[in-house]
Amino acid sequence: MNDVVPVPQGLFTQRDAGPFDPPSGMTRLRETRPVSPLLFPDGHVGWVVTGYDAVRRLLADGRFSSRQDIGVLHMPFEVPGMPVPTEPSPQIPGVFIAMDPPDHTRLRRKLTGAFTVKRMRELEEHVVDVVERQLDAMARLTPPVDLVEEFALPVPSLVICELLGVPYADRGGFQADSAKFLVKDQPLEEKMAAYTGLTGYLADLVTRKRAAPDDDILSDLARDEDLSVEELTGIAFLLLLAGHETTANMLALGTFALLENPAQAAGLRADPDLLPGAVEELMRYLSIADIFYRYAVEDVELGGETIPAGSTVIVSLLAANRDPLRFDDPDTLDVRRTARGHVSFGHGVHQCLGQQLARVEMRAGFHGLLRRFPTLALAVPAEEVEVKADMNIYGVHALPVTWSGTAG
Ligand code: HEM
Repeated sequence: MNDVVPVPQGLFTQRDAGPFDPPSGMTRLRETRPVSPLLFPDGHVGWVVTGYDAVRRLLADGRFSSRQDIGVLHMPFEVPGMPVPTEPSPQIPGVFIAMDPPDHTRLRRKLTGAFTVKRMRELEEHVVDVVERQLDAMARLTPPVDLVEEFALPVPSLVICELLGVPYADRGGFQADSAKFLVKDQPLEEKMAAYTGLTGYLADLVTRKRAAPDDDILSDLARDEDLSVEELTGIAFLLLLAGHETTANMLALGTFALLENPAQAAGLRADPDLLPGAVEELMRYLSIADIFYRYAVEDVELGGETIPAGSTVIVSLLAANRDPLRFDDPDTLDVRRTARGHVSFGHGVHQCLGQQLARVEMRAGFHGLLRRFPTLALAVPAEEVEVKADMNIYGVHALPVTWSGTAG
C-alpha cells in the first residue's frame, strides 16, 4: 500500500476544534477517506473507520473480532494509544466485551434479564431518589463546588453499587483503580496493578456472595454453578467499570455542554418533556466512549476498501455521530432533533448492555439538576475546564460550578 500516510500527530487526542468536537484530524479523515489505512509510528498499518455508515456496518459484522481490547485492558501498547497487529488476544474470563460469539453469547445471556427496559423502568423511582438526595447534599454546600465530585460521580456509583451488591463504602478503592485503568498512556505495570487491585477485591466479594447470596445481581450470578469464580470476577469488573465511569462522564460533560449552550438548557428547563430526546442528542453530540478496537479475522470489503485479515481496526463513534451524511448540521447541539440511530452505545452484538440504566440515570440527573439549580453556571472560564483528552472515556476531570439560589 504506497498511498498509506503516517498517523497525523494528535489524531486521537488533540481536541483542537473545541472541547466537544472531534479532533480536526478525525473530521478530515472522515471527509477524505472514511475507511483509512494509516501507518503507525511502529511501522505497522492499521485502519481507522470514521464514516457513520462504515462504522455501523463494521460493528454489525462478525468478521471483525472484539478480541482486541487494547483500550480497556492490557493488550500491547507499543506506541501509546496505538494498537499493533496481534493475533486475537487471549480472553480474560468473564470480560465478555472482549469476546466473540459463542463465548460472548453465553455470558451476555446470563445478564440480559437484569438490564431489560422493564427492569430499568421499575428502578426509575429509586434512581430519582438517589439523584434528589445527592442534589440536597449539594444544595447545602457553599459554591463553587466540583460537580463531578458532588454529583456526576456519586449518582451512577451509588446506583451500580446497589444493583451489583458492591458496598458503596468501598468506592475509594474501585474509583481510583478504575480511573488509573482508563488513562491512555499509563505504563503497563501501573495498569496491571490497578487491574490486579480491582479484580482481587472483586474476587473476594463474589466468593462471599457464592457462600451467602443476597438480593443483588452479583448474588444472582453467583448462584449459577455454570459460572466460575474467575468468570464472576471478570463480569463484576466489567459491570462496575462500565457502570459508573461512563454515566459519570456523561453527566459532567453533558452539564458542561448545556452550560455552554444556554438556549438549549433554557429550552429543557421550560419543557422537561424534551428530556428523553435531549439525552439521546447529548449522547450523540458528546460520544464519550469514542474509540473502540476490532480485529479483522478475514479480508473484508468496507466502504470501497479491502481491510486485510489480521488488521487492527480503530473505530471512532464520535466521528460517526458527527457525519453530515447521517445527521444534518452535526456539530450543533440541538436538543429538539431526532438523534435516534446514533452509535454512542455501539451497535451489533456488543451494543451496550447498560444503556437503559444509563438513560434512566441521565434523564433523572439532568432533570433534577436543571430544576433544582436554575442559576447553575460555570465557576471558571470555559477554557479552564480540564477535559479528559488523556483518558479512554472522555469527560472532564472536574467541573467547578456555582449558583445563586436553589429551587425545591
Ligand atoms: C458496551 C457505551 C453505560 C455496561 C458498551 C459499548 C459502548 C458503551 C459504546 C459497546 C462496546 C463495543 O462494541 O465494543 C456506554 C455509554 C454509557 C454506558 C456511553 C453511558 C452513558 C453503561 C452502564 C453499564 C454498561 C451504566 C452498566 C452495567 C456495558 C457492558 C457492555 C457495554 C457490560 C458490554 C456488552 C457486550 O459486550 O455485549 N457500552 N455504556 N454500560 N456496556 Fe456500556
